[in-house]
Amino acid sequence: MAREFTSVGVVGLGTMGSGIAEVLARSGLDVVGVELDAAGVARGRAHIEHSTERALSGGKLDEGGRAELLGRITYTTELSDLGDVDLVVEAVPESLELKAEVLGQLDKIVRPEAIFASNTSSLSVTEIGVHTARPGKVVGMHFFNPAPVLKLVEIVRTVVTEPDVVTDVVAFAERLGKTPVVIGDRAGFIANALLFGYLNHAVRMFEQRYATREDLDAAMRYGCGYPMGPLALLDLIGLDTAYEILESMYRQSRNRLHAPAPLLKQMITAGLLGRKSGRGFYRYE
Ligand code: CAA
Repeated sequence: MAREFTSVGVVGLGTMGSGIAEVLARSGLDVVGVELDAAGVARGRAHIEHSTERALSGGKLDEGGRAELLGRITYTTELSDLGDVDLVVEAVPESLELKAEVLGQLDKIVRPEAIFASNTSSLSVTEIGVHTARPGKVVGMHFFNPAPVLKLVEIVRTVVTEPDVVTDVVAFAERLGKTPVVIGDRAGFIANALLFGYLNHAVRMFEQRYATREDLDAAMRYGCGYPMGPLALLDLIGLDTAYEILESMYRQSRNRLHAPAPLLKQMITAGLLGRKSGRGFYRYE
């Protein structure tokens, strides 16, 4: 029988971490959300409040359900508050050094039988896991943005992940109402390995003035039935995050498809990060 998880920690409450905390709380789990400082906590909380408002207006939640969901999340700036959780989802920015440091610290705090699930998009889960004394209990649990809406969770197993841990995390993802897929530890896993070459190619077409941003996006929406065009999707993902993912995949695969388009770097340097900064390929209110 699959292991029951009741209390879960989420470290990092950026776009993904806060979305994941919402998903976990929605399915009845007690969630402890950790951020670096009070400003980070406030951003994460505001993100969850805004997202659950959308769920409310879309009829996906009622007032009572929303209040219960919000009440199940506690916020802290101390990793030491995670001593009693059964599983930790790590969702800090995509830097191996940072993830290794966070997991190394957590290793000393969290009970040895607890599972560490990294939401990394493109780093090696194996490399992250070896920075703990429990690499057998480390898996990837990769959610998609927006996490409360998209059903996919990629469960990434390394060569040392215990088979029971994979089975338990798959059952856990199902309990969250998600559709899990299991994959070995390869750059970009399944979805990003296929998606990011396409997104990068769209930036290159735009960079070469091949078509307008609107026409590029319209082509994929109306010609291929995608819910969003590639440039609007990059704005949703965040150009900085997309760049990190491309760089990391390029480093691992040396596939030129994944060499980040120069325009991406220029936009990031100019502060155009997409929706989160109010402007990317498009402007947002
Ligand atoms: N909880 C539950 N449901 C919610 C919700 C919440 N917090 N917020 C919104 N919803 C529901 C809405 O009620 C709505 O439901 P219906 O379709 O039944 O009406 C649905 O979710 C869509 O929400 P909106 O109406 O607010 O938005 P939309 O229709 O404009 O769709 C979108 C927006 C979901 C982002 C859609 O355009 C989409 O799926 N785009 C593609 C996103 C994508 O490809 N993401 C993957 C990025 S790659 C990634 O994440 C990997 C990585 O490592 C970076």
